[in-house]
Amino acid sequence: MHSINASNGTEEIQHFDNYKDGYKLPRNPNGWYAACLSKELKEAEVKPLSFFGEELVAFRDAQGKAKVVGAYCPHMGAHLGHGGTVVDGKIQCPFHGWQFDGTGACAAAPFAKRTPQSARSNLDSYITEEVNGVVLVWHHVQGKEPDYHVPEIPEMDLKQWMPMQHFTLTFRTHVQEIRENFCDESHFAFIHEQEGPADITWNPEGPLAHHHSHLTWKYFVKMGLTDEKYRFTCDSVFYGPGVLVSRTRGPIDSATIGLCTPIDDEYTQFTLMGTSRKVFPGLNWFNRMSLMKTAKRDVLLEGEIWSHKKPLEKPIYQAHERSMSKFQKWYAQFYDGHSQQETIPLRVVNS
Ligand code: FES
Ligand SMILES: [Fe+2]
Repeated sequence: MHSINASNGTEEIQHFDNYKDGYKLPRNPNGWYAACLSKELKEAEVKPLSFFGEELVAFRDAQGKAKVVGAYCPHMGAHLGHGGTVVDGKIQCPFHGWQFDGTGACAAAPFAKRTPQSARSNLDSYITEEVNGVVLVWHHVQGKEPDYHVPEIPEMDLKQWMPMQHFTLTFRTHVQEIRENFCDESHFAFIHEQEGPADITWNPEGPLAHHHSHLTWKYFVKMGLTDEKYRFTCDSVFYGPGVLVSRTRGPIDSATIGLCTPIDDEYTQFTLMGTSRKVFPGLNWFNRMSLMKTAKRDVLLEGEIWSHKKPLEKPIYQAHERSMSKFQKWYAQFYDGHSQQETIPLRVVNS
């Protein structure tokens, strides 16, 4: 909290900056997050990453499996993501040539009598999985193993679906803000140009949650076609705190994968992948383009709001805004094991 002296010299105006004063949501909920897209991590490439307030690097081992390890070499602290190389499936430090395997274990230390093998000589390593063209990394504050997985989705089949397109944006907000937006009934009318609040059905299932609603696709409405005719059902599955698969079914079928990864205490990376079902050549590119263009425009509008809003301890939810508190109650499970100070998700309701 910052105090600013008002012009009369006596009154103090309290100016709250939720980022400078400490964001009121716990950092880094436990779960699977996107580290990068598969196509962004080529064989023999070392990719520096900044997530969870840490410096990481991704590379592919000798079998082509994506690996994510801590970026700082334990020898003298060089950053493996800047000048590091992949040698025989191991990541090699640019400074003095130490090598590390996909588990982070030191595998070679040139000119040393023996290869260091203590815990100190290893890199931190992260559990990874690669699915739907995404390298996922597991983050758990207590180092627990994954208790759910993100499945392969049928919409990756190029016989029936267009190749996925994507865009990536960075927002100055918490990962939960981006995710819970999907459960904010009223914003669909203002941001997404729907006729009114969304009618959301919410069914949590452990670390997964199912979300059902209806939408109209405004591109078609704007073209002079009726709302009724271009009404879609929208079925989505939240896979933990960082992955959301959403499908519209109607005159045109689409699928998106929304990926949110905490960068640090201030910023979150958001990637949206999207595709549409092939109908006939000529229309396919238009359907996918309209989906992605609409989504990007809307997310940019939301990003402006997320970047400046603050989480309220007691929002004034109305009768038609039932899903936010349900979502927050479900999402609270991903803060398990966070420190006492951090385990108080202020907006989680008790009922
Ligand atoms: S700092 Fe990495 S090998 Fe020396
Ligand atoms: Fe939204």
